[in-house]
Amino acid sequence: MYRSHNCGEIRASHINNKVTLSGWVQKSRDKGFIVWVDLRDRYGITQLVFDEERTPKAMMEAAQKLGREFVIQVTGTVIERASKNPNIPTGDIEILVTEMTILNESLLPPFTIEDKTDGGEDIRMKYRYLDIRRNPVKNSLIFRHKVTQEVRNYLSKEGFIEVETPYLIKSTPEGARDFVVPSRMNEGQFYALPQSPQTFKQLLMVGGMDKYFQIVKCFRDEDLRADRQPEFTQIDCEMAFVEQEDILIAFEGLTRHLLKEVNGVEVKEFPRMLYDDAMRLYGNDKPDIRFGMKFGELNEVAQHKDFGVFNSAELVVGIAVPGGNSYTRKEIDKLIDWVKRPQVGALGMVYSRCNEDGSYKSSVDKFYDQDDLAKWAEITGAKSGDLVCVLSGDKNKVRAQLSALRMELAERLGLRKPNEFAPLWVMDFPLLEWDEETERYHAMHHPFTSPKPGQLELLATNPGEVKANAYDLVLNGNEIGGGSIRIHDKKTQALMFDYLGFTKEEAKEQFGFLMNAFEYGAPPHGGLAFGLDRLVAILGGQETIRDFIAFPKNNSGRDVMIDAPAPIDDKQLEELSLKLNIKS
Ligand code: AMO
Repeated sequence: MYRSHNCGEIRASHINNKVTLSGWVQKSRDKGFIVWVDLRDRYGITQLVFDEERTPKAMMEAAQKLGREFVIQVTGTVIERASKNPNIPTGDIEILVTEMTILNESLLPPFTIEDKTDGGEDIRMKYRYLDIRRNPVKNSLIFRHKVTQEVRNYLSKEGFIEVETPYLIKSTPEGARDFVVPSRMNEGQFYALPQSPQTFKQLLMVGGMDKYFQIVKCFRDEDLRADRQPEFTQIDCEMAFVEQEDILIAFEGLTRHLLKEVNGVEVKEFPRMLYDDAMRLYGNDKPDIRFGMKFGELNEVAQHKDFGVFNSAELVVGIAVPGGNSYTRKEIDKLIDWVKRPQVGALGMVYSRCNEDGSYKSSVDKFYDQDDLAKWAEITGAKSGDLVCVLSGDKNKVRAQLSALRMELAERLGLRKPNEFAPLWVMDFPLLEWDEETERYHAMHHPFTSPKPGQLELLATNPGEVKANAYDLVLNGNEIGGGSIRIHDKKTQALMFDYLGFTKEEAKEQFGFLMNAFEYGAPPHGGLAFGLDRLVAILGGQETIRDFIAFPKNNSGRDVMIDAPAPIDDKQLEELSLKLNIKS
């Protein structure tokens, strides 16, 4: 028996008991005549004591030689500590060791295994197994487990069945590139790893499964960011015989359940916002509505003077920064530099100070009088003491730039409180999105999404205007889920592929299996998928998903611990028919 107790559970009530513990040496303090060792496992830390009077000499010497992260097993008596540590649950006691076995030695770890470590991101990723011994990482993984378990509990109780779908499949278009796997048995042919189980879950609906979910890995070869990994996990869901409303209610239920069980928070409302309004008011399809700073469009009150920059702009738009009038000129200049960074890309920023006495002082006083500036303040909702920041230019670009500024300022002003939760449905996304690179329309969500009723005809004349039965669930400014009501008849699906520029042959080749299934009584259906990593991170009060993934990849898509991806040898390449025949 390696242990009778774990390192987190022994209390004063155990005093005089004989116990056996196993764990890692967190640290030891050697005073010569007495040695204290902090023994750590997943559950906590227990102090061990060895002293000249009570410990045999050989064991005393062994204790003095224990290095950090050695794995040891000890047996001893629980005794009361002379100086108690109120900061840890086991702080009233220590173990007077009578037997000790060194189970394994350890090299000196390359960073300190403590809550605040001296290890940078790269080294921690290389030795992730050591990083996992630290409380913040360990607790994030335990937190993820709790969320996952609650998801399974809730959905199972609601009648959803978890079904596994294959990983070796054909391309599923979700807007990213596929990771592909060569087939040894089918020379020159490849599987694609699923970007999502989208088509399979629709086939399960045709199969009559009715309510499906799956906690499932998805793979997307796309540019990485703090909230994106090349392999990530979805809570993928689908329901048959449902309308949009049924789906929104069902997954509001799941989100409420998680917030309550995991965070102890009761959310009253799940407001809904049209995509067009989200873009107009927040410049973003995933607005953080925990704070105001809504956009005020200023074209009408800013394009009547001689200021060429505004007059030539498609959109002039501003936000009120609460208390921003206290910024010094230098601070505002820094803000202007911030919006001009290539990542944001604004050409400049105009501002107007709202003084306490009700007057205004702007960076464009040459062009605008007090009445003009009063209108800017009114439209952006600025009060005295605030600062109005105004950007102008191409509508889509300027909205994205001002949205970035809004989020940055909110962060600096402490308005993005991690313990406050504000969910939001964003609805009626455009069905199609113009892609500058390929100069054609792409499905904004995916090609299986149905247009809003009565809008199918608009596809031929005004494709950019067609709205979809598609919705995203946003939590604190992050897209945590997205879904849609699907097309379930072959004719409409064929038409969609046609509008998306697939030839009949291409559509048949890629999606013939789905079109065939639609000929055998496909029920009306729809669903959604949550990004589990994102959901867990946000419930955990953070936005970087890496911290909630046991073995994440870095921003170049590498696993630096196992050193993947890596070349494979010639023999393997040959077996897979991948060896290049380079002729000299
Ligand atoms: P979508 O592409 O919107 O929808 O994905 C659903 C959710 O998955 C999360 N997500 C990611 N998380 C981490 N890293 C990534 N690279 C990544 N990409 C997406 C997001 C997103 O909201 N099949 C559809 C769902 C449906 O229609 O039912 C789909 O995959 O939180």
